[in-house]
Amino acid sequence: MTTRSIPFFPYSQLFTARESDLMEVMRDVCRRGAYILQKDCKEFEATLAAFMGVKHAFGVANGTDAIIIGLKAVGIGPGDEVILPSHTYIATAAAVHMVGATPVLAEPGPDHMLDAADVERRITPKTRAIMPVQLNGRTCDMDALGAVAARHKLVIVEDAAQGLGSKFKGRSAGTIGRFGTISFYPAKLLGCFGDGGAVVTNDDAVAERISLLKDHGRNADGRVVAWGYNSRLDNLQAAILNYKMKTFPADIEHRRRVAALYQAGLGDLEELTLPPGPEADPRHFDVYQNYELEADRRDDLRAHLESRGIRTIIQWAGTPVHQFRELGFAVSLPRTDAFFKRCFMLPMNVALSDDDVAYIVAAIRSFYGK
Ligand SMILES: Cc1ncc(COP(=O)(O)O)c(C=O)c1O
Repeated sequence: MTTRSIPFFPYSQLFTARESDLMEVMRDVCRRGAYILQKDCKEFEATLAAFMGVKHAFGVANGTDAIIIGLKAVGIGPGDEVILPSHTYIATAAAVHMVGATPVLAEPGPDHMLDAADVERRITPKTRAIMPVQLNGRTCDMDALGAVAARHKLVIVEDAAQGLGSKFKGRSAGTIGRFGTISFYPAKLLGCFGDGGAVVTNDDAVAERISLLKDHGRNADGRVVAWGYNSRLDNLQAAILNYKMKTFPADIEHRRRVAALYQAGLGDLEELTLPPGPEADPRHFDVYQNYELEADRRDDLRAHLESRGIRTIIQWAGTPVHQFRELGFAVSLPRTDAFFKRCFMLPMNVALSDDDVAYIVAAIRSFYGK
């Protein structure tokens, strides 16, 4: 077998694959001198809202600011607890901390997503919100979480940084809770060439507060009427996102095809636990931001793949949030701990060819002697 070189994520290819088009997009913005809050940003917000089926979408500086601004807009702050999964990026918990509230960490269910039953056990009189993370391009079981929220009169707010395009029962990730947030970090489903994010909501009053919070508290007339941040999506990034949005549905189909090929090639290996396949559950439309699986002898398998030129990673560099002891977490989450001894991620991106996937599948099968 000839050895290939398959990066985990081909950052430079995002640009080189469409270099002349992208140079034209950037030249156009710069020649217009249109850097901050210009028409490209407005256009992108409208396109994003239409794509997600939501009333309001606001570009902001990054996906972390998006959560902070959303939480502030719904009035979550000191004295409040927000329940979220430990299997998430530190940003989800940090945003809760930064608004003065307390992040309470919970366990995943078998599909890696926030487990509604575990959430319910962690509710206290201080709990104000549940924040599902729409991880790996999959939307949580929002019926189960919604039932818990309704029973305890809690608000649901969604960290959909990894979920753009994913759906639960036909509704887009990020549009089901009071607000939802997206990240346009370069390796995200829809990535820009730097930092970028969005907050979306169907609630007019929340939308009004988000629009003030993200731009120095300035209203449509430019008058300051509240305290706010400087957290705006760069117009240059918005123009790049407008361009990339045109192929986004095809990009999603590409990812779903790669997932189907992994499922077909690896589904019979009992040493592995794969994520749900694209057709596994009609309630879910998964877009595979990541292909995260569990494996027996995970570290040896990763070394075997590395020796064949296949780069893999463990999400969050292998550390779920509750294991950051310096941040003061003292909670024991045995299911999350067990998951992090077995999980890792295979390459999943639009540059992967069918041959690349066949090569990765063959390498994994050879490791297990199949
Ligand atoms: C689940 C999750 N939440 C929040 C974020 C934060 O987004 P950003 O890096 O754009 O601030 C990320 C991505 O990095 C993420 O994966």
